[in-house]
Amino acid sequence: MKERLEELQAEALGKAEKAETLKDLQDIRVAYLGKKGPITEVLRGMGKLSKEERPVIGELANKVREAIAEALDTKKDKLEAEELEKKLEQETIDVTLPGRPVKVGGPHLLTSIVEEIEDLFIGMGFEVREGPEVETDYYNFEALNLPKGHPARDMQDSFYITEELLMRTHTSPVQARTMGEFKGAKPVKMICPGKVYRRDTDDATHSHQFTQVEGLYVDKDVRMSDLKGVLNRFAKQMFGEDREIRLRPSFFPFTEPSVEMDISCKVCHGEGCSVCKGTGWIEILGGGMVHPRVLEMAGYDSEQYTGFAFGMGPERIAMLKYGVDDIRHFYTNDVRFLKQYHKA
Ligand code: PHE
Repeated sequence: MKERLEELQAEALGKAEKAETLKDLQDIRVAYLGKKGPITEVLRGMGKLSKEERPVIGELANKVREAIAEALDTKKDKLEAEELEKKLEQETIDVTLPGRPVKVGGPHLLTSIVEEIEDLFIGMGFEVREGPEVETDYYNFEALNLPKGHPARDMQDSFYITEELLMRTHTSPVQARTMGEFKGAKPVKMICPGKVYRRDTDDATHSHQFTQVEGLYVDKDVRMSDLKGVLNRFAKQMFGEDREIRLRPSFFPFTEPSVEMDISCKVCHGEGCSVCKGTGWIEILGGGMVHPRVLEMAGYDSEQYTGFAFGMGPERIAMLKYGVDDIRHFYTNDVRFLKQYHKA
């Protein structure tokens, strides 16, 4: 029996030594130390032994068990350490390798221009406001002195949703909304950027959806010269200190008098060339003094308050500033076009 136990120990230790995986070890453990294993078998036969032999063999059997278990544990630790080593080796990162370049985006040209316009007017004390793109006929037209049937409504072909609802054709309704909110009780000095919609056929200079930035300043003693001063500062900061502006008489139902502002052509500085079609000037925006009826409808006393308003198209401004030749570039979003305007 003693020999059998020693034989089993040698056998098990030999196998443990050769085991290559944790699974092998587990199989050996079950085979030798399990309830149906050979050692249990040997112990079962102990009844045949003499009183003196029994404790000796019992002790030996325990020692054999311990020896096998210990060998298996040692081997297990070794295999686990090896496995970890292998894993660490596979996962090492060579920090000296050059990295893969990460592609970064940037703001859309239109977003940048609108933000530039905003910053510029915030610098002159204007607040930035917003209004809804789906607008009521009242705010889009009536509150701006364009009653139903007014022929000037034809200047802005509209997308109607119902009789009384439409996609706003300009950002001017935000003038009426803001003045209405302020209830004729305090000055207004705001700009409003946003999308506007007109039933136009899309081509290089027209789009059924485009952007506007509205401006409105209402207070006591606001004059035409204030409008000119603010727009002059805007034009010079946006296009360059060497540019001049001029105001031409125009017509809008919500301003009186109304003007259109031109800036001197950057190519010929007013001489006349192909860029400005020989005139020396390029039209930039519309504006004027807020019509007294518009002030009154919004709850302002037109005897006390006066104001100016203007509206401009950031696409047009970006086109002039960067020489973009087709308004559709802003909406088709070809990355090759857009990334030219990403600031590094
Ligand atoms: N809303 C006018 C347009 O879209 C522009 C404008 C705004 C004119 C404010 C005067 C005052 O054509």
